[in-house]
Amino acid sequence: MLLLTDRLLRAGCCLMAVAAGTASPVAAEQERVNPPAFSYLLHCSGCHIEDGSGDPPEVPDLRKNLDKLLQSATGRGYMLRVPGVTDTPITPQEMADLMNWLITEFYPELDDFRLISAEEVTRGRATRLANPLEVRRTLLGAAKD
Ligand code: HEC
Repeated sequence: MLLLTDRLLRAGCCLMAVAAGTASPVAAEQERVNPPAFSYLLHCSGCHIEDGSGDPPEVPDLRKNLDKLLQSATGRGYMLRVPGVTDTPITPQEMADLMNWLITEFYPELDDFRLISAEEVTRGRATRLANPLEVRRTLLGAAKD
């Protein structure tokens, strides 16, 4: 929990730095050339880390299970219903772009998947999970990351 708080603080710091116009040159460059990558850096990397590795078992490794989750409607829905995704203040289209970028970036071997749409993001927001870990266990069993 201490770690999670630490991550939250980091995310907050990054956000403030960006708001104050003092983001690192790397972040500024990413915003210009790759908005979804910048969005990930800003809204997700505080917990999931820049490379997606997270901090298992508290914060899942995003490089491990999304390909499995994508295979079922429930799994797909789950990814869009976790609080980290539903509560991020960007438009549904921006979130869809972010998720699609993330999947392409972390699963280069997955050469074909049905792109996440803005409508799916909106549906996920309307059905935000109160018990994400329980749902995750049902979908992924004892996955430790
Ligand atoms: C405050 C920390 C935090 C932030 C910020 C955060 N997440 Fe998460 N994320 C988690 C945790 C913890 C889980 C495990 C489920 C739960 O308890 O919500 C999770 C689960 C997920 C999952 C499901 C993966 C799995 O294996 O269960 C996806 C996909 C995901 N997050 C994507 C994102 C994206 C994209 C962003 C940025 C828009 C983001 N998260 C921001 C903490 C965070």
